[in-house]
Amino acid sequence: MTGINIENVRKDFPILSKQVNGNNLIYFDNAATSQKPSAVIEGLKYFYENINANPIRSIHSLAEESTKVYNDARKKVADFINAEPEEIVFVRNATEAINLVSFSFPFKKEDRISSTYMEHHSNLLPWLRLKERGIGVDIAQVSEDYELDINYYRRLPKNTRLVALTHASNVTGTINDVKEIARLSHEQGALVLVDAAQSIPHMPFDVKDIDADFVAFSGHKMLAPFGIGVLYIKKDTSKNMQPFLTGGEMIKDVSLSRIIYENVPNLFEAGTQNVEGAYGLGLAVEYLNNLGMENVEKYEAELTNYLYERAKELKNVEIYSGKSKRFNSIFSFNVTGLHSHDTAYLLDKKGIAVRSGFHCAQPLIEDRLKLDGAARASLYFYNTKEEINTFIDELNKIAAKYGRQ
Ligand code: ALA
Repeated sequence: MTGINIENVRKDFPILSKQVNGNNLIYFDNAATSQKPSAVIEGLKYFYENINANPIRSIHSLAEESTKVYNDARKKVADFINAEPEEIVFVRNATEAINLVSFSFPFKKEDRISSTYMEHHSNLLPWLRLKERGIGVDIAQVSEDYELDINYYRRLPKNTRLVALTHASNVTGTINDVKEIARLSHEQGALVLVDAAQSIPHMPFDVKDIDADFVAFSGHKMLAPFGIGVLYIKKDTSKNMQPFLTGGEMIKDVSLSRIIYENVPNLFEAGTQNVEGAYGLGLAVEYLNNLGMENVEKYEAELTNYLYERAKELKNVEIYSGKSKRFNSIFSFNVTGLHSHDTAYLLDKKGIAVRSGFHCAQPLIEDRLKLDGAARASLYFYNTKEEINTFIDELNKIAAKYGRQ
């Protein structure tokens, strides 16, 4: 076993001792959102009992404290991914981060954007929408092994201005070689946006090493509250970007005839900031740092290998993940002949939470994999082999009863 003390870790998450439908909860829907440790839950209570004030604007003591914790959170998040604080923009979630780039970056009519077939909607729709402005969108294909073709990135379509891709797929689990893809894309003059919503919660992430120009991720998938996310923008990349929203605290000086904008990150954080969320994200990052992201990655790899090993026993179950060279702790499947929602409903009766349906990746699931949905178990560092045993046993029973041979 690795450096994770699973018994102690589980005590940190009150919800994990909950009963659901008369059974111990087995929470396997971590790719949708993670559970929250007491450090974050109690931290939020502390925030409202001791700090709450509008940050940056007011100068009274509480407001100064609120500003301080907001800035401290930015520094913690920056350190966590090896970025500079001024490269960290707080947004609502990865979806808002990617939309911000699509609205704020000065794309020209002849520009092209490359996305991929394995994206969830958040890294697809913002680009498809730009077609209305005459901007071309190309979609990199996904192989039978759920891999992107690296050769595609050696010969990007002419005028590709931005390559947008996920680091880890929320359906197939594929972990893409974003560092190599960034290198190849830069050689051809394209910028790179990495959707790291499914990777940053699970592995060490060094933005300087990967050399991405934009990175998007959500706090709620990495122990933080809902409603806080991050857009990393490499320093010089933000130079010609225009604000997506305008309002309070994103200007240096304003009159009715002249606006002088603030610098990034404030430029992109118009209106009262989500201090509570940022504070919670800072606490989440501290929690993850205490565990050590190498330990998280190793423990999850152990769990994932165990899950795929035990899955070999399953009959009447099709699996749609785990075929790529590298994959994360995601297991997508169907009981043959049973809709994924039915499978999820039957598992839920046993207290096992999995997601089902299109996973906000309908083009991948419907058009590419030719499915009307899939069930998905997704693990995090607080899950156990015992939980995997129960999951496989219950899934086997469902597949034996309802599955088509
Ligand atoms: N994109 C998230 C998921 O995969 C919501 O469930």
